[in-house]
Amino acid sequence: MSSLIQVVGVKEHDKFRGVYWVSFEDGTERLATINLTPGRRVYGEQLIQWEGKEYRVWNPYRSKLAAAIMNGLKVMPIAEGTRMLYLGAASGTTVSHISDIVGNNGIIYSVEFSPRVFREFMEKLVDQGRKNVIPILADARYPEQYIHIVRTVDIAYIDIAQPFQAKILADNADVYVKNNGYVMLVIKAMSIDVTKEPSETFKREIDVLKDRGYEILETVHLEPYDTAHAMVIGRKIS
Ligand SMILES: C[S@@+](CC[C@H](N)C(=O)[O-])C[C@H]1O[C@@H](n2cnc3c(N)ncnc32)[C@H](O)[C@@H]1O
Repeated sequence: MSSLIQVVGVKEHDKFRGVYWVSFEDGTERLATINLTPGRRVYGEQLIQWEGKEYRVWNPYRSKLAAAIMNGLKVMPIAEGTRMLYLGAASGTTVSHISDIVGNNGIIYSVEFSPRVFREFMEKLVDQGRKNVIPILADARYPEQYIHIVRTVDIAYIDIAQPFQAKILADNADVYVKNNGYVMLVIKAMSIDVTKEPSETFKREIDVLKDRGYEILETVHLEPYDTAHAMVIGRKIS
């Protein structure tokens, strides 16, 4: 178990502020973020104490954003102070690490439509003192449902594992993302069309974003952490 293996160092990612590499004595390295709510875990992740700070190990098998970073993501627009709209918050695994990265000057409007999952999200994040997370129980297909809550954001991120994700992302980003802001799309090929090869599905979803006026900056496949998944980063062109 890695929890028994000594930590020998922690260093910040060479490009992404707020993302860290923890080195263990067996030579392995893991991603981590600084815990915004020290002493508290969100999904059973390992907590590491190093030079007066507490880090939460970020599991790429549980978070597709971590998987994308592990696979060499080049454009990671999330940083200290970022304002985000996150669609498909689930029980908060990825949102919790983003919450660590953006800190108390940032904000994550977190949309989830399953009441049961939303309750878990509330218990694990909001009730545990993460003040930069604004929980929204709503359907991402209808962005107008949260127009009275969400302000203009730097980034819209979607991971709802449903058909028409690119369309739903663009519908939201058209309303909420600032000009020259970013969109981040997690595509699960099987949940879009089981009859198509993943690459065909990825291309089709990417084309939807392009047709809606978004510039595609990068696509990263998420194997071996998630099969038939990709992360696409785009930009809203004014
Ligand atoms: C794959 S999980 C998200 C995992 C999460 N992004 C993470 O990395 O921690 C997809 C979530 O999207 C939610 N979802 C699906 N369709 C939705 C919709 N139309 N609006 C809001 N949430 C939706 C599901 O209930 C589920 O919790």
